[in-house]
Amino acid sequence: MGMLKSGVVSGLLLALFYLTLLPFVVHGFGMIGVGLSDKAATQSYLFADGQIVANTAMTLHILAGTLLLMLVPLQLLNGLRLRYNRFHRALGTGLVALALMTGAAGMTYIPLRGTIGGPVMSAAFFLYGLCLFTAALMVARMALTGDRARHWSWGLRLFWLALGSWLYRVHYTLWYLATGGLGSEPDFSGPFDLVQNFAFYVPYLLAVQVWIVRRRSGHQGDLFTGP
Ligand code: HEM
Repeated sequence: MGMLKSGVVSGLLLALFYLTLLPFVVHGFGMIGVGLSDKAATQSYLFADGQIVANTAMTLHILAGTLLLMLVPLQLLNGLRLRYNRFHRALGTGLVALALMTGAAGMTYIPLRGTIGGPVMSAAFFLYGLCLFTAALMVARMALTGDRARHWSWGLRLFWLALGSWLYRVHYTLWYLATGGLGSEPDFSGPFDLVQNFAFYVPYLLAVQVWIVRRRSGHQGDLFTGP
């Protein structure tokens, strides 16, 4: 009965969470449509005539990123992970592939086309791509070598990085609702924009790090024998 109840609660929470992801997912699929149309350049600044590599990278980027965002919450459900190990492995493999694609395509696009916010945004987003790419490689490596503790740490990092692009939009939405857009400019040159270039992933990685160290010392009593 307790199991059933907690299953219902986590099901409801998951449904709520998906509702908050929905607008960005819908936007993502819309942009894939734009990327695949032959008039992409007239419909979004992300695409340009004659830039086949950058245009393809952006379309692939949005496709892989949106799928990653849609699927990654399922990987953290304890019930699924503990009872259906094969599902966890299959989905995990897919998520790693999607994260590598999202990061690689984004890091291909940035040197070719830059970003709407200029050099600081380009550098920050590139670093974000490197983080996502590294976390995906490490979570796979730790699964393959059977290092459970590190697989868990890298899995948490990958999860928060996979949500990063959505968190960026969440920060903007909440800030505009609260302040009407204080410190934010259309060309992303305001102080709020500059902070946001990093604020959608660096603080989350730090918080995850604190969480990991506390859990680890709680479990093992001694930090130095831990992973
Ligand atoms: C799950 C993760 C991600 C998702 C869902 C995602 C999704 C998207 C979407 C939908 C766009 C189009 C934005 C628009 O319509 O205005 C976009 C743009 C972009 N993304 Fe990502 N992305 C993700 C991760 C990343 C990563 C890791 C990087 C870094 C390599 C990155 C770099 C970029 C860049 C440079 C742009 C163009 C920015 C601009 O100039 O407006 N994204 N992404």
